[in-house]
Amino acid sequence: MQVFSIIKKRRSVRFYTDEAIAEDKLKKLVEAAIWAPSAGNIHAWNIVILERKEDIERVKAISPGILGNPTALMILCADKRRAYDKRGEVGRDVLSIMDIAIAAQNICLEATELGLGSCIIRSFNQDAVRELLDLPKNIAPELLVSLGYPRSIPNSPPRRTAEDTVICWIKGGNDQ
Ligand SMILES: Cc1cc2nc3c(=O)[nH]c(=O)nc-3n(C[C@H](O)[C@H](O)[C@H](O)COP(=O)(O)O)c2cc1C
Repeated sequence: MQVFSIIKKRRSVRFYTDEAIAEDKLKKLVEAAIWAPSAGNIHAWNIVILERKEDIERVKAISPGILGNPTALMILCADKRRAYDKRGEVGRDVLSIMDIAIAAQNICLEATELGLGSCIIRSFNQDAVRELLDLPKNIAPELLVSLGYPRSIPNSPPRRTAEDTVICWIKGGNDQ
């Protein structure tokens, strides 16, 4: 599929069937994340993948933003130490978060290509998730991506128009 059609096709899917996601598909999603751009190519992030229902339920209990019943959950974590060691405070506080957001988008686009639904989730208790998963202090959960086969695909929420979004276009080219 063409990139733009995948971009437009991707929806935040929150309700899923019970069908499990095959391991090779989950690995493909991780590959998609790995091929995301990364500031300084540092990739100061790690992913925790949960597939067991009871594990997902535990995270859900401390994550108001998980609305449905994902069959798999990816927890995208910033490696704050690695980010700080390589790029200082900006790396730790800004770049690592940007990297994770882009990696999450790659995961969601690849999920769409594979016929999976996905939803990026930020509304969750970061400290509680870190504790639950027994993560080291320097590993900070920043985004969740819920995954599964869509029960249904939601309608597209409206978008702002290009005219509304571009506030200034300094045009070039021969026809100006
Ligand atoms: C950074 C970020 C955080 C989000 N957090 C949540 C969340 O906590 N729960 C949720 O159901 N959706 C969440 N979403 C999904 C948005 O609600 C969704 O992208 C938006 O409504 C547009 O719909 P679409 O993704 O289908 O185009 C989040 C999206 C982003 C990019």
